[in-house]
Order: sequence, then structure tokens, then C-alpha cells
Amino acid sequence: MIAPGATSADVLAVDSVAKRFGGVQALGGVTLQVRRGEFHAIIGPNGAGKSTFFNTLTGLILPDTGQIVFEGRSLTGLPPHERVRLGMGRTFQITRVFPDLTLLENVQVALLAHDRASLFPWRSASRHRPADARGLLERVGLTVSEHLPASTLAHGDRKRLELAITLAGEPTLLLLDEPTAGMAAQERLESIRMVHRVASDLGLSCLFTEHDMAVVFSVASRISVLVQGKLLITGQPEEVRASEQVQRVYLGEAVIEQGVNG
Ligand SMILES: Nc1ncnc2c1ncn2[C@@H]1O[C@H](COP(=O)(O)OP(=O)(O)OP(=O)(O)O)[C@@H](O)[C@H]1O
Ligand SMILES: [Mg+2]
Repeated sequence: MIAPGATSADVLAVDSVAKRFGGVQALGGVTLQVRRGEFHAIIGPNGAGKSTFFNTLTGLILPDTGQIVFEGRSLTGLPPHERVRLGMGRTFQITRVFPDLTLLENVQVALLAHDRASLFPWRSASRHRPADARGLLERVGLTVSEHLPASTLAHGDRKRLELAITLAGEPTLLLLDEPTAGMAAQERLESIRMVHRVASDLGLSCLFTEHDMAVVFSVASRISVLVQGKLLITGQPEEVRASEQVQRVYLGEAVIEQGVNG
């Protein structure tokens, strides 16, 4: 099933998705494709509709109209957990970290949840795929002891653990709504670069929102600009940076310069 404007190279094809909350048209018909392997940023001012858009993708919000096709399959009517099972990896939104379990156990629980239905209905998490769990912790660069309780992690390391937990579900697409929220500037850059490296190592596609232009321009392969529920432009970073419309309506040249040089 291929939506209008999409190709089979797209992991996600969104067609004319609209959502109204009372008097607010949060999304006014958004059409966008995520190509396989790309790191695609959605930017826009506060209240532009970015989170609403993510929530329609993950299934937390039902759009009024429009269609979402993921890996060739229409998501209409599918609840969030089934979208996760198809390979949509949501990180940084719903925290599935158990604070009293160790880092290793947290990832083991996620692996078991992913495998359980089909393979290991009897097994306890602490004996489940420890080497794979360790591999995921290494992949996200968690250098502190795997035997520490998750509650002891600093904010940035907790984000790394959340990513490892998401990766346990073997996603093909990562959906990250403000993954670097709450971090200091340098930590934001390090964190998004880590996600970018992991995604490219594993061949995953990624759609993310971000307010920090230095972060956006350091990793995005394409950028979509959302303003008042409508997409102004989707293009290469240079194209978006050069767009007078984008500069006028939203970013302002100073901010763009900061992104270029940051
Ligand atoms: N559950 C809701 N009920 C009513 N209005 C909502 C709801 N969720 C979002 N809105 C409104 O929809 C619009 C889009 O909000 P949304 O949170 O999607 O924007 P955003 O781009 O994610 O903003 P931010 O950059 O601040 O995170 C806003 O006007 C917001 O007030
Ligand atoms: Mg938001």
C-alpha cells in the first residue's frame, strides 16, 4: 500500500493527516515521508503541532482525517502497542525504565517483553539474553556498571538506557519527540550524535523534533518545518536554511547562522 507522493523507499508515508482540538486546528493536513535510513528533523515554533503529529504516528491520538502507512501497511485503527510490534520505536516519551532494576535487568526485561509471546513464556528476565542486553548497553555507550540500579543514573545516561530499551524491540523507525529536552547544550549535541551513530550503525530511520538548531543541523539529513499545523517545507538542511519563507516566518537568520556554525 503506497500513499500518494510516497515511494517504496519510504519507511513511513503520512498523507493529509489533520487533527482539531476544539477550536484549535493542531494539524491542518500534513503530508510527509520518511525515507529508509534518513535522520529527519521536524522543527517549528511552540504549539506548531509537532507533538500532536508524533502522537498520531504512535497511535496515542486518532487523527480526524488522513492516512499513515508504515512499512507498507496502513496503521489506521492500530493501537500503540501493535505499532511498536511492527517496528515503530518510541523513545523518550513513555519511560519504561524500572528504577530498582539494574541497567542490565532493564534491558533484559525489554528483550523478554519483545520475545515472550512467541518464544520464552516461562523464562525469568534475569536469565534472559544477558549477552545481548550487555551488547545493547555498549551500543548506546553506557559506561557505568551494568549492575547499578537505574535510579542512580544521571539524566543523560537515563536517556541512553531508554534508547537501549527501545532497541530491544528491534525497531526500524525511531520516533523521538524532543529527545534532548532537559539537557545542557553540550550534552544535547553528544546525545543526538550518539543516537545518530546508533541509527546509522543499525540502518534505522529516525524522525525527531528538536528546538536547538545546533543539534538539528549537526545530524539531520532532511528537515521539515511545521508552522501552525502546516508544513512550510521539507528539504535538505541547506535548502531549509536558505528558504526565505522559513527565515521570515519562523527561524530568523540569526538562529540559522547559529545552527550552521554550531
Ligand atoms: N490534548 C489537547 N487538547 C487541546 N489542545 C491541544 C491538545 N494537545 C495539543 N493541543 C494544542 O494543539 C496545538 C499544537 O500543540 P503541540 O503540543 O502539538 O505543539 P508542539 O509543536 O509540540 O509544541 P512544543 O514545541 O511546545 O512542544 C497547540 O495549540 C496546543 O495547545
Ligand atoms: Mg511538543
